[in-house]
Amino acid sequence: MYKFNEIRSVGKSERIQNTSFVDVSGIYGRDEDKNTLLRMLCESSEQHPHIISIIGMRGIGKTTIAQFVFNNNEVINNFDKVMWVCVLESFDEYKIAKTIIETLEGSTPNLGALESLFQRISRSIFGNKFLLILDDVWLDDYKTWEPFYHCLKNGLRGSKSLITTRKESVARMMESVDIIVVKVLPDEECWLLFRRLAFFGRSQ
Ligand SMILES: Nc1ncnc2c1ncn2[C@@H]1O[C@H](COP(=O)(O)OP(=O)(O)OP(=O)(O)O)[C@@H](O)[C@H]1O
Ligand SMILES: [Mg+2]
Repeated sequence: MYKFNEIRSVGKSERIQNTSFVDVSGIYGRDEDKNTLLRMLCESSEQHPHIISIIGMRGIGKTTIAQFVFNNNEVINNFDKVMWVCVLESFDEYKIAKTIIETLEGSTPNLGALESLFQRISRSIFGNKFLLILDDVWLDDYKTWEPFYHCLKNGLRGSKSLITTRKESVARMMESVDIIVVKVLPDEECWLLFRRLAFFGRSQ
């Protein structure tokens, strides 16, 4: 009578597979977050693997900031390999490992045992300075994350992994060295964004 099933299915379909593509000229504000992140990504680091997390509430702009750095020339030139993986709620280890291999090797591996996928990732990143972006992570089970964490150690020192998540507990579980908390946009930038979306950039 109350259509609970329909309501639930609307809630479920709300999660979106974000890609790395963005129109950087359409990103308002965020100068401080962008600069902090650029510095974190490009400077050398004692930590290995070096995990950075962007956290904040739903829709606040975490993925947008990650897309910005992924497309930034300074970042691209700083790494041998850059990889974007949209993770989502399920944290499907096979899919994630497969996407990483596809990006590294340019070919789709047959889905063998997870062990062999990890070995391929280890071989491909060995001797490379990589940037891995894991967008929209919800996992809070360290056992699932642990093999990825150890595998990432095979990259060169200076490699970085960037995670976006709504949950601080996820950032902590993944052993983030740095955490950027994304806050609400200032009113002025909110208005510019609203105006562009609602009135196609017209002021009234
Ligand atoms: N600074 C910004 N300038 C312009 N558009 C923005 C900005 N921040 C966010 N947006 C827009 O707002 C929407 C939500 O942003 P985004 O997907 O980055 O949020 P999120 O924090 O990753 O959300 P979620 O927790 O659901 O993953 C997107 O359409 C994005 O393009
Ligand atoms: Mg997001």
